[in-house]
Amino acid sequence: MATIYYTATSLDGYLATADNSLDWLFEVPGATEAESGLDGFLAGIGALAMGSTTYEWVLQHENMLAEPHKWQEWYAERPTWVFSHRDLPVIPGADIRVTSDGVREVHAQMVAAAGDRDIWLMGGGDLVGQFDDAGLLDRVMVSITPVTLGGGAPLLPRDIRSDRLTLTSVHQAGQFAELAYDVKPKVTT
Ligand SMILES: NC(=O)c1ccc[n+]([C@@H]2O[C@H](COP(=O)([O-])OP(=O)(O)OC[C@H]3O[C@@H](n4cnc5c(N)ncnc54)[C@H](OP(=O)(O)O)[C@@H]3O)[C@@H](O)[C@H]2O)c1
Repeated sequence: MATIYYTATSLDGYLATADNSLDWLFEVPGATEAESGLDGFLAGIGALAMGSTTYEWVLQHENMLAEPHKWQEWYAERPTWVFSHRDLPVIPGADIRVTSDGVREVHAQMVAAAGDRDIWLMGGGDLVGQFDDAGLLDRVMVSITPVTLGGGAPLLPRDIRSDRLTLTSVHQAGQFAELAYDVKPKVTT
């Protein structure tokens, strides 16, 4: 069981523009085909976590409250924790738990729910950083997009040096460079 941050990023290390647009990602030629790797990745995932901006993007962009079957098609029954201090709407029929508990407590719940499958941290970057702060991040898998944004939502705003990161895989998927790093968990006290 591993806790994995899996995401697309711009070449200069942003998840989204400052106004939370992902248009730059989907307009890359071959982006849909490159996404096909997601199915294989999802097969090994037993629980998901994301921050509220990411969740609200999914709600709005995919019209999920009105079309909840889309969530089922993508994520099926996988339990999903959405970190927020607000009372967010839950997609009908989806196992979504809005929480403001600490990442250690939530991670323990995710491990119990995932069984021997992995945990997918979808982002954003600071939330993944909170998991790393707690020594709970095992792997980073990034799909680098041929785009620079000059600013926006950062990929992983933490100071993680090469003594903790090991490149384990390099793969080209069309215009995307897919890199995987094992993360030596941060030692916490
Ligand atoms: N390129 C990609 O593939 C990809 C992947 C993931 C995300 N994205 C995009 O990247 C952007 C990320 O947005 P973001 O940087 O704002 O990150 P985010 O993690 O999606 O959302 C941050 C918000 O989550 C809540 N939160 C974070 N930690 C919390 C905690 N410990 N307890 C309770 N609530 C907590 C807070 O909001 P409240 O408490 O106010 O609700 C915080 O402002 C979004 O536009 C998303 O769509 C892109």
